[in-house]
Parts: sequence; structure tokens; C-alpha cells
Amino acid sequence: MDTSRFERIIAITGAAGFIGSNLAIYLVLKYPDWLFVNIDSLTYAGNLSNLAAIESADNYCFEKIDIVDFASLSDCFKRHEFDSLIHLAAETHVDRSILGPANFVSTNIVGTFNLLEAARARMATAPDFRFVHVSTDEVFGSAAEGEKFHPDSRYRPQSPYAASKAAADHSVRSYFNTYGLKTIVSNCSNNYGPYQFPEKLIPLVIHNALSDIPIPIYGDGLQVRDWLYVSDHCRALDVVLNDGKAGETYLIGGGTSTENIDLVRKLCQLVTEKTDGKDREHLIEFVADRPGHDRRYAVDTTKIRDELGWQPLESFDTALASTVDWYLANTEWVERCVSGEYRHYYKENYVNR
Ligand code: NAD
Ligand code: TYD
Repeated sequence: MDTSRFERIIAITGAAGFIGSNLAIYLVLKYPDWLFVNIDSLTYAGNLSNLAAIESADNYCFEKIDIVDFASLSDCFKRHEFDSLIHLAAETHVDRSILGPANFVSTNIVGTFNLLEAARARMATAPDFRFVHVSTDEVFGSAAEGEKFHPDSRYRPQSPYAASKAAADHSVRSYFNTYGLKTIVSNCSNNYGPYQFPEKLIPLVIHNALSDIPIPIYGDGLQVRDWLYVSDHCRALDVVLNDGKAGETYLIGGGTSTENIDLVRKLCQLVTEKTDGKDREHLIEFVADRPGHDRRYAVDTTKIRDELGWQPLESFDTALASTVDWYLANTEWVERCVSGEYRHYYKENYVNR
């Protein structure tokens, strides 16, 4: 591939997943003179069909690589002269981390370490190499009533997922402090939107409501989450990549504090209104709580607003309705996800308990 025409060459890990595919489509279309290389191993959560909109774009290419495999990663860094990397590849589902944390340790901790090492080697020829590490607000644990996470909040991860992301965040910062690698960490709240794997709350509820199967609510359903529409997260990562200051941390969130039960009822009503008018709320089933379940997340986004001029643009109600529309229009995509390992996982863990 002749890459001489490109002004920049940027690696995106995990671009076959939910946020990664939305981000890759956004960036590839926005910056036709920059080449984007998707590094993804295509786990159960990675799906190249998410990227149909850009698969034939000449400023996009795909490398099937497991970030745990340092030799392949290093070879990829030698073949492409990356100037930056946006790191999203991860094991991301809290419930799976409770059932089996090993993959979370290898991908999220060892995989991130491998990318840091590959980036450190790249610094010899690209001293300004930028490493954007995409992380979660879950590293801070549960927020007390009235509290909001801020960039200096103490790390208190509760789940194996959150702990693995926390370890990765610390490793990333250590490469800034020790080697001068230009790293930036972003910690974002819960995302929703197209292409989210239907194991996460919002697409799971839409899917179950459409399929007339139980909708599991963990514990009392009064846990609070801050939801951000995925396109707003993509815009935030774009400004962080371009204008974020090396060594800094930016918190990203939608400012939409919602109890799970209210959100689930709202989704049931949306599905009812948009389909056959039949009630869906009777499908809601309170089930055993998730162990170590964080009660509340809330994010203070003052820093990214003041320093980088970002703010969310989508209203929760409108974007939630358009997310339901997307899942209604893409039932085949959902079925393909659900018919794989996910169905087995769902049956084992929720249907019979
Ligand atoms: P996802 O589970 O939808 O996708 C993860 C992607 O990473 C998949 O394409 C998968 O194939 C790939 N991947 C997994 N292990 C890999 C490995 N060893 N090597 C290469 N590729 C691998 O995830 P998502 O929800 O899009 O999240 C993306 C990132 O954003 C993650 O780092 C996550 O921690 C972070 N994040 C997610 C949310 C959210 O609400 N989804 C919120 C804040 C931060
Ligand atoms: P989830 O989408 O898994 O995101 P996270 O755990 O990263 O916040 O879950 C969002 C919230 O919904 C969380 O409080 C757990 C809860 N939940 C349920 O009550 N039932 C479900 O079936 C799922 C998947 C989540």
C-alpha cells in the first residue's frame, strides 16, 4: 500500500467493536487525507460488518492482530509508520469479567502494556507519537450521593473489568512519567447507540422486549448511570487526539443521571410505541444482583469542556429513540450477535436463575 499521500497514519485498536466502529467511521470520513489502521482480533464483540460504510475507503485498512501477541503487534508497527494510536481494544463486559477474569487481565493489562512497548519503540523515529488510551469512569468505583468523578478522583475499581482498566490507566501514565511518551487518558461514562453488542443493558432490553423474553434487572434497579450517546464520545476522542495535552486525563460523560429501572421502562415504552402497541413492562424481572455492583456513576466534565471546548450535543430522549429505531431496523445484525456465544452465555446466566 502506497501511504505517501497521507498526512498522518493513525492506529485504532478495537475498531470492529461498538465505540471503535463508530469512531473509525467518523474519523475516516472526516479526515480523507489521514490513514486509519484498525487493529482488532475480532473476538465475540468484534464484527467487521459494523464497518461496511468505510471498508472500501482508501484511507482505511484492517490488521487482524491480537494485542496480546507482541511479535505481531511489533511487526505491524514496523510496517505502518504510525504517528498516533487510539486504544479501544478491550474485554468490556462487567458480567463476563465476573464469570472469567483471565481474558480481562491478558487483553486489558498485558495488551495495553504491549501497545505501550510498541509505541515506546516507535518514539525512536517518531518522538511526538501520541497514545490516546480510552478508559472508563468505572475505575473510580461507586460515586457517593452528590459526588461527581473528577480527573483527580481516587481509583477504587470494584469489578475485575474495572480493575483491569485501572491497571492499564496506571501503566499508560507511567510511560508518560518514565519515558516521556505523549499519553492521554480519557475516562468515559456508559455509552449507547448503534452497534452495541446486545449483552449491555440498552441493546439487551430492546432485544428482549422485541423477542418477548424476560428483561433482567439486577438487584433493586435503582443503580444510577450517566449515559452518553456514542457519537458524542467519538467527537470527544477526536478533540482529545488533536488538542489533548500529553500527560493529562479527560473525563467524558453525558450528564444524564438515570436509574436503571426508569431507563428500562422508558425503553419498553419506546419499543411498544414503535412496534405493535403491546405492553412490554410485564417482561421486567428482578433477578439476583451483580456481585460488587457499583451503585452510582456521575462525571464532572468541566475540564474537557473548558480546555478542549467539547460538550455533548445529543439529547438523551432523542438519541435513545433513534437508538431504538436503529435496533428495530437492524434485527438481523442483532440476531447474528445473539445466535453466537452470547445466546449460550445469556441462557446459562440469566434465564434459569
Ligand atoms: P466492545 O466490547 O464493543 O469492542 C471491543 C473490541 O476490541 C472488539 O472489536 C474486539 O474484537 C476487540 N478486542 C478485544 N480483545 C482484543 C485483543 N486481545 N486484541 C485485539 N482486539 C481485541 O467495546 P466498546 O464498548 O466499544 O469499548 C471500547 C473501549 O471503550 C474499551 O476500552 C472500553 O473499556 C472503553 N469504554 C467503553 C464504554 C462503554 O460504555 N461501552 C464506556 C467507557 C469506556
Ligand atoms: P451494563 O450495560 O453492563 O454497563 P456497566 O455495568 O458497565 O455500567 O449495565 C448497565 C447497568 O445495568 C448496570 O447497573 C447493570 C445493569 N444491568 C441490569 O440490571 N440488567 C442487565 O441485564 C444488564 C446487562 C445490566
